[in-house]
Amino acid sequence: MDVITKVNEMQTRVLSIKDRKKSIGFVPTMGALHEGHVSLIRSARKENNKLIVSIYLNPTQFDNEDDFNNYPRQMDKDIEIVERENADLVFAPGTKELYPEGFCTYVTQDKLTDSLCGRLRPGHFNGVTTIVTKLFNIIKPDRAYFGQKDYQQTVVIKRLVADLNMDIDVRVLPIVRDEDGLAISSRNKRLNPEERQNALCIYSSLSKAKSVFASNIKDSKEIIEEMTSIIKKTKNIKIDYVSIVDPNTLENVSSINGKAVATVAVWIGNTRLIDNIILE
Ligand code: PAF
Repeated sequence: MDVITKVNEMQTRVLSIKDRKKSIGFVPTMGALHEGHVSLIRSARKENNKLIVSIYLNPTQFDNEDDFNNYPRQMDKDIEIVERENADLVFAPGTKELYPEGFCTYVTQDKLTDSLCGRLRPGHFNGVTTIVTKLFNIIKPDRAYFGQKDYQQTVVIKRLVADLNMDIDVRVLPIVRDEDGLAISSRNKRLNPEERQNALCIYSSLSKAKSVFASNIKDSKEIIEEMTSIIKKTKNIKIDYVSIVDPNTLENVSSINGKAVATVAVWIGNTRLIDNIILE
């Protein structure tokens, strides 16, 4: 497995794969790989001839310098994980390679980025749509893999691909959870044992949403109240949002008809965690 750091070298390798008519599966990551990434990598491995994983901690999608500085970094371990999963190539460019001096073109998306994390993390999704477009242009994947944990991101990227006529199949895979229900995330590494315990209220609130909905309560306000009361019982936690949204438009729904997404963002100490569950 080769680790490629230069854009032009990656492009040459991609051209040669395409010349041989092989399909490319692509898993974009910011490193600090965990079981969630491994599940994406394994599906990509199965469904494509060639597998490329990118590892790049993209500064333009961080709205908070501390979050960027404290984001876990473990390049050597990440490369070992990707190699173990039998990837063909790793793309691990530096920031000067992706944002050279004079860089001034960004991809922006309206509407879908106005709510939830987009509302609370200004500029975050511009960073995501810009880097994902750049990576897609360099790697030209047939299929790209994302986790449902970042639900809004998956909707934004599907729309980006449709709106900009990119010929890429966006695959969204289920959330991978620890045994106690906590959604696996690179940011979990920053939680101390007490915070890790407190974070369980996120999954409890989502499970509550599911059971309340299953008992035939369709009123979002009522479900959100139940979810919020669980989170509020936990110490040292700050709610960014607890929302029930339409799965496609991400707009709040007042009553659930068919399918909706219950979604939560909270701060546990200095760590912001998100999670969601589909209600249908
Ligand atoms: O989900 C992530 O890890 C990032 O937002 C992504 C898609 C790799 C872009 O930097």
